[in-house]
Amino acid sequence: MDGDWGTSQAAQVPGGFQRGENSEANAAHPPVFLTPLIGRSDEASQALSHLDNEQILTICGPGGVGKTRLASLIASELRDDLKHRLRWVSLASTSPESAPAAIRAAVGIHATSQLALAEAAQRVIRDQRFILVIDNAEHVVESIVPLLMELLHACPTLHFLVTSRSPLRIDGEQVVQLRPLGLKVVAPASQQSSTDAEGDFPERSEAAQLFLDRASRAGQPLNLDESTLGSVEDICGAVDGIPLAIELAAARVHMMSLRELAQSLEHSFSLLSSPLTHSEERHRSMQECIRWSFDLVEPLDQPTFLALSVFTGGCTWEAAQAICDVHLGEEGSFADSVSRLVNLNLLSVQITGESSRLTMLETVRQFARGELATSPELELLYLDRHAEWISALLARDAEPL
Ligand SMILES: Nc1ncnc2c1ncn2[C@@H]1O[C@H](COP(=O)(O)OP(=O)(O)OP(=O)(O)O)[C@@H](O)[C@H]1O
Ligand SMILES: [Mg+2]
Repeated sequence: MDGDWGTSQAAQVPGGFQRGENSEANAAHPPVFLTPLIGRSDEASQALSHLDNEQILTICGPGGVGKTRLASLIASELRDDLKHRLRWVSLASTSPESAPAAIRAAVGIHATSQLALAEAAQRVIRDQRFILVIDNAEHVVESIVPLLMELLHACPTLHFLVTSRSPLRIDGEQVVQLRPLGLKVVAPASQQSSTDAEGDFPERSEAAQLFLDRASRAGQPLNLDESTLGSVEDICGAVDGIPLAIELAAARVHMMSLRELAQSLEHSFSLLSSPLTHSEERHRSMQECIRWSFDLVEPLDQPTFLALSVFTGGCTWEAAQAICDVHLGEEGSFADSVSRLVNLNLLSVQITGESSRLTMLETVRQFARGELATSPELELLYLDRHAEWISALLARDAEPL
């Protein structure tokens, strides 16, 4: 790509990175979080070692799972000399059209001369390691990939750390799939054989640790005993350990008891919203958070996504095909559709031994179920097929061997 690129003659910042006049608009230092981080040390070390070897590392995962939070942890754990050569650009509110310019500005390349992009980038990077964190890229993937490819080829010491709900799918990309916080109840490492300040029940999962921290910050004294801790674990389990959902649930502790909150989340996620928060719109409710991904679903994949929401607890490929009415010869395109939904982290495939299941996070499934309910005809169709499938299955099982 030839063009009117050049480095600006603007101020130098520590580490020799050249900063352009407009770079502050999008390019900045990592965001500062004022709440404690729970877990993620293994994921951070894994990512740091990938970053040593790979030029492009993408942290992927569903909305609210903690990709941005992990990227900021990684940035804070870099060697000091590298920290000075790290820039951060958040694309969450950037359009696909403006995203390439935001990235160029973050690297420090400005359209001030007749230099080719590659040469302009080389003048900024100067064969030294440089890390650009590109935060929230899922909605601009297609528009930034050509630029990233050109920069990666031109500057072997340039590294991109990307957070995105879907991988970029470009040559050389290393993906780190970020899982929700652990739901397994364990004693904190420092208190394996003793109790803690909060009572005689130190064992709790990572997810519960997050809930308890956020709930106590909301000013609600929690009387922790075996039963309330059980409710906390239930709350975290109901939302599959997704940190954003846990934070939204914890913001409700002043309204109802932990048991009531846990019971409510068994039926509906309508409480997972926080109208009073100052956070980004996407993070004010799980509904909004999932809609951000749903908006990226291609129209031809929407029926698959909606249809699969009728299965609580996931389903086999065979069941999925029966509901989606997939015939022989169409299997390939159905698999492609599933694959695109998996790519967006709206669906996952769990392979155990010789079998596999298609599953959705429960928050995602209920979102899809809600969307399906807005089309009564489609809803009836899929529910009928689901009932037929169950009857056929029961009849098959009842057949003599
Ligand atoms: N490990 C963690 N410990 C504490 N808080 C966390 C953790 N992970 C995420 N959070 C909190 O959960 C919320 C969502 O996290 P984050 O913004 O990193 O999610 P995300 O995966 O980047 O979401 P999106 O796809 O919408 O950008 C934030 O308030 C964040 O501080
Ligand atoms: Mg993010």
